[in-house]
Amino acid sequence: MIKRYTFGSPFVTDSVVLPLATEKNPALPRGQGHFFLFNDTEAFCWNYEMDKGTRVYGLGENLHGINKRGHIYQSFCSDDPNHTEDKKSLYAAHNFILIVPDAQIQAPGRNPFGVFFDYPGRITFDTGFSKENEITVTCEKPDIDVYVITPENSDSPELSICSQLRKLTGSSYIPPQWGFGYMQSRWGYKNAQDIRAVVKGYRDSDIPLEAVFMDIDYMDDYMDFTVDSSKFPDFPDFVKEMQQDDIHLVPIIDAGVKIKEGYSVYEEGLEKSHFCTDKSQNSQAPFTAAVWPGMCHFPDFLNPEARRWFGLKYKSLLDAGIDGFWNDMNEPAIFYSKAGLKKSLQTIQLLKDKNMGVGDYFTFRDCTNLSNKDEDYKNIMHKVPVEKAGAYGEQNLTQGDTLVNHYDVHNLYGYNMTRSASEAITELTQKPVLLFSRASCIGAHRYGGIWTGDNQSIWSHLKLNVAQMVGLNMCGFLYSGADTGGFGFNASRELLMRWVQFSIFTPLFRNHAIEGCRFQELYNFENTRQFQTIIETRYRLLPYITKTFMDAAKNDGMYFKPLAFIFRNDQRACKVEDQLMVGDDVMIAPVITENSQGRYVYLPEDMTMVYFGGENRTRASTKDAFTLTPLAQGDHWIEIPEENAVFFIRKNRSITVAELPSGKINTRTVSDSTDTFTLQG
Ligand code: GLC
Repeated sequence: MIKRYTFGSPFVTDSVVLPLATEKNPALPRGQGHFFLFNDTEAFCWNYEMDKGTRVYGLGENLHGINKRGHIYQSFCSDDPNHTEDKKSLYAAHNFILIVPDAQIQAPGRNPFGVFFDYPGRITFDTGFSKENEITVTCEKPDIDVYVITPENSDSPELSICSQLRKLTGSSYIPPQWGFGYMQSRWGYKNAQDIRAVVKGYRDSDIPLEAVFMDIDYMDDYMDFTVDSSKFPDFPDFVKEMQQDDIHLVPIIDAGVKIKEGYSVYEEGLEKSHFCTDKSQNSQAPFTAAVWPGMCHFPDFLNPEARRWFGLKYKSLLDAGIDGFWNDMNEPAIFYSKAGLKKSLQTIQLLKDKNMGVGDYFTFRDCTNLSNKDEDYKNIMHKVPVEKAGAYGEQNLTQGDTLVNHYDVHNLYGYNMTRSASEAITELTQKPVLLFSRASCIGAHRYGGIWTGDNQSIWSHLKLNVAQMVGLNMCGFLYSGADTGGFGFNASRELLMRWVQFSIFTPLFRNHAIEGCRFQELYNFENTRQFQTIIETRYRLLPYITKTFMDAAKNDGMYFKPLAFIFRNDQRACKVEDQLMVGDDVMIAPVITENSQGRYVYLPEDMTMVYFGGENRTRASTKDAFTLTPLAQGDHWIEIPEENAVFFIRKNRSITVAELPSGKINTRTVSDSTDTFTLQG
């Protein structure tokens, strides 16, 4: 059951698609905490008292483990590549938490429940950091819709809560079939030759490859919807050439539109007033700040007309044969604003001839950090229909619109960029299009997938990736994954291999790396046959992966689940943080530590261990490619060599795997060759 509680006059975020009447009485039932307003009117709060054993789930992409207890998190979409444990926010803002009270304490009103805070701005979740046994959720404005979700069945209450959240906020995006293939990306592929070389590298080493991503360098001067003709002399022809080799090209689209005379997107946006405006100029001029192309304006994705206008711009690339996009820098990321730069240069001028001690030096150091400042976000204004704005409207305009400050609705920007693309693409083409974004909030899961942004090639980020998948699935982002191998830094072969072993299970499976780091394409590492084995396992597992994904998408379920949601009465299973269920039949236990050769795995019940790969492997015959070993419930040390993909099937469950086709391996050839094989647990 879902109950809606409305405070003040909220912004209509469009995150929710199920119309629900508001509860008249804001007092929550016993066991669900209580609402209050700070200083009576200033800010909204929700407070809940936990037992020692209470677990807290959710928060989508955010940091830390599967159980989110014990930290402070903030939903405020942030372009910050340093995902250290002290951080509160990453690129996305997913305001849903699920609370599971300690089952060993018997008392009335102690059932699992979920809370979705439908709020567009900065909101803080203190899940037991300030006070060990208290959760406090605070947001800056008192205007908010809160949805409290209680289970509809007692067998799997957690899954029932997540499924109801999806009913409330809409079904998840489903990618094209090829979106389940293995994909390669790197910031630094500059031209057609670079991309051809990547495809050749994969083909020569006989590792399946489905798509190559085009990062910012394909554009002319980083201008959205342009292609640099000196690098791609005949782009549609190049797209065709790639298609003939079964490779999809996926260009990046950034939020900032370069200010440049003669650039049609800029000129049209200006003429039609489709850019966000600048509060410091009484909203009479577009807001200006720098990103990759230098000074930019930012499409007003919260304004329905601007949203449609920008979305229709994807047409030129669709017409060139493109069928996939990734939307980036849409928190929005800002390198610096004109005002910020001016202030900083003035400070530097004052310090120029000084003998800088600690105070001055720190002032100097801080003033060079100009990116993604609240001051800048507070200067951006959106034009929003009055009926959507609630108490957020600051100045009514003609034609039923009002101005809304970006800072207050920050988390809706990336979401609405993805919505802009998705709505227009649906209008423009019948073909299924791959679409995913960096920034998002709940609601965006209807329009596209997300990747988890700029992680790094470090073991802790592989571990984080595992936990993130669970949080994201709870919030509806089924089509998700991280930059496999890590984006920043140089990946060791071992880290990359272990990451690939995990990512063969993530619906979005993309290897991506930053410009300047070690080349991270699999064929650039020694003993490519081992990588080939693992990637082939992904393709063999496609029948199970796609079926599990489609079941989750169609039935508002989860693709990745924590063990705690399935083995509810097993106290050990409820605490497992580094093993996941993939659907209902398969459990995975990825290796996330260095030099380990294997790991301890906890089996909540008897399971069959599956080893794919190894000495006996032949591509032609799936049955020779694996070994099955029944294992009893309990703890096991499992050897997990690099050349094997290892997972577990539950007792009396079976999964369908594909025989690989004799020719080229990709999602299409695998599904066309109907030969399958059943693995019995
Ligand atoms: C951002 C993206 C990253 C991309 C880079 C260059 O950092 O998150 O994936 O490679 O921009 O476009």
